[in-house]
Amino acid sequence: MSRKYFIAGNWKMNKTPEEGKKLASEIASVVSKDAAVDVVVCPSFIALDRVSQAIEGSAVKLGAQNFYPKTNGAYTGESSPEMLREVFAKYVILGHSERREYFGESDSFVNEKVRFSLENLLNPILCIGETLEEREANETLEVVKRQLLGGLEGVDTDGLSNVVVAYEPVWAIGTGKTATPEMAQEVHGSIRSLLTEKYGEAAAEKVRILYGGSMKPSNAPELLAQTDIDGGLIGGASLDSKSFCELIDAARTAS
Ligand code: 13P
Repeated sequence: MSRKYFIAGNWKMNKTPEEGKKLASEIASVVSKDAAVDVVVCPSFIALDRVSQAIEGSAVKLGAQNFYPKTNGAYTGESSPEMLREVFAKYVILGHSERREYFGESDSFVNEKVRFSLENLLNPILCIGETLEEREANETLEVVKRQLLGGLEGVDTDGLSNVVVAYEPVWAIGTGKTATPEMAQEVHGSIRSLLTEKYGEAAAEKVRILYGGSMKPSNAPELLAQTDIDGGLIGGASLDSKSFCELIDAARTAS
């Protein structure tokens, strides 16, 4: 089964709208109509519209970093899927460890968002991953299973076909420490097995499972060569067009 590689930049709380426009334009000029790799950029809410305009006509797609799972209403500070769709966002990052840690997002709230995103035509990038303490306590696979199956509760096979999963070991995020390709593959392989148990092999084989956590041009080729690593969700290295485009190149080469 050959899955199309998927490279997404999670800009987190970086880049003003103007800086985002510049970065997105640089990426779009390199990616142009490239169809070999799915490329997504996820700026902050305030930069979405300008970035959307900067990538118009290119193959780069837009993602948001969050939304609130209601249609509209009195939810101060939040944005709805409709607002995201209007600026042509196609993806939304859900369940990121930073949202779990700093904003107290639980598996059931992440699940509510996953289901709401699918009902509202946004493709979720569902993030899961263990902390250092959990890894040291040998709980990695258990945590990943809980977060994966919790996040996908009530999602049917049709829904799954629009889901991208990102395995991000928390201890590797922004730390410069990367999971070795073997460590990452072990978890990615077990994510694929869990998906196979729940949805059957045909559906599970189609799901892109991204690795995230200090991925950069120097370590990407080895990670992307693993059987069940289908791309990257990239933080730091997505903030510079040169390194982000090198990561896209690495995925193209691995294809
Ligand atoms: P870094 O690439 O900066 O480690 O961040 C990874 C991440 O959290 C992407 O969502």
